Amino acid sequence: MVISDFSFARTPRIYFAPGKFNELDKILNNFGKTVLLVTGANSLKTSGRLDVLLKTLKQNSINYFTCSVAGEPSPEFIDSIVADFRNKKIDVVLAIGGGSVVDTGKAISAMFTQKDSVLEYLEGVGTKIHNGIKLPFIAVPTTSGTGSEATKNAVLSRIGIDGFKKSLRHDNFVPDVALIDPELMLSCPPDITAACGMDAFTQLLESYISPQSSPMTDALAYIGIKYIKDSIIPACNEGADNIQVRADMAFASLISGITLANAGLGIVHGFASSIGGFFDIPHGVICGSLIGKATKTNIECLKNENSWDNLVLKKYAAIGRLVSNNNSQDVEYCCRLLVEKINEWIEQLKIPLLNKYNMKKTDIDKIISKTGNKNNPVELDINSKRRILLDRI
Ligand SMILES: [Fe+2]
Repeated sequence: MVISDFSFARTPRIYFAPGKFNELDKILNNFGKTVLLVTGANSLKTSGRLDVLLKTLKQNSINYFTCSVAGEPSPEFIDSIVADFRNKKIDVVLAIGGGSVVDTGKAISAMFTQKDSVLEYLEGVGTKIHNGIKLPFIAVPTTSGTGSEATKNAVLSRIGIDGFKKSLRHDNFVPDVALIDPELMLSCPPDITAACGMDAFTQLLESYISPQSSPMTDALAYIGIKYIKDSIIPACNEGADNIQVRADMAFASLISGITLANAGLGIVHGFASSIGGFFDIPHGVICGSLIGKATKTNIECLKNENSWDNLVLKKYAAIGRLVSNNNSQDVEYCCRLLVEKINEWIEQLKIPLLNKYNMKKTDIDKIISKTGNKNNPVELDINSKRRILLDRI
């Protein structure tokens, strides 16, 4: 088959190694002498790493300002931080934390160069197009999940009846540097490791079967899933002292950011966007909760539209073979193996049902009305979407 047209966006300069965090000051030095450090609420401080970093910055005559974000960033929070630090002559923004912290840093670095509110530039909310001019941005993830360290978008949220979860997006917003140190993930608790890991898996699988996928993204997504399949369970069970599985998951997460930025995502992330606007549910929990039934539904719908000879079904089957270490060439059987393995992970990792977060059957219609198909390989009708949600309520 002839390779179809594709393009591939740039990636950050990637530094990947256990202990690489200790070289952060040298990397910062390449960008200037004044840094705005964005962190999460607590963990960097309680781990003692924040004090060590700040001491190192002082020793290297790097000036710093700090701010922290708890939970997912809102547009108002981004605007307030930009207003607070606009006159400080910041050279570079550095975000150290989970996906929300990285998204916060990414949005701040993009908005320092603009005069109006970030709301004006949010997809589906504002009407302005960002010119892509931003401050240099360094992302240091402490969880393995969103892949935000390699993506071109920052997700901002407003939760409630008129809530939304929307992206600030531009090709230039890909971080300049992604520093991935698996040692930073050792202290990540099992439930967060599980949810983030299932988010990374969902991103890899959805980009692999996306109509926008290319041989480049296919190769990367396949390898990412190969690392996840052996490490997602041990990362949760023995992740406090197993650097190898933490490195595997950190690598898979990074790759998932690259593939999603280039191939897009599917129906699970369509749901994550709508549900995340209505309910305060961690993104990884939504993805991990829905990916099993969504995969089964996609396969059933594709089968009804086509035969087992369909290219996407063959791709699903290839992943089924990979995750279950099976050599069968039977597409139907391998698709079944994939669904079974995902459901096994959901059970073993104790991914919660969504009703744990107060989501009810009566919420389904409003959720579906706000759920886009994204780059799902098949257009799902309302009943199919309903079946996916009902399975997890
Ligand atoms: Fe995600």
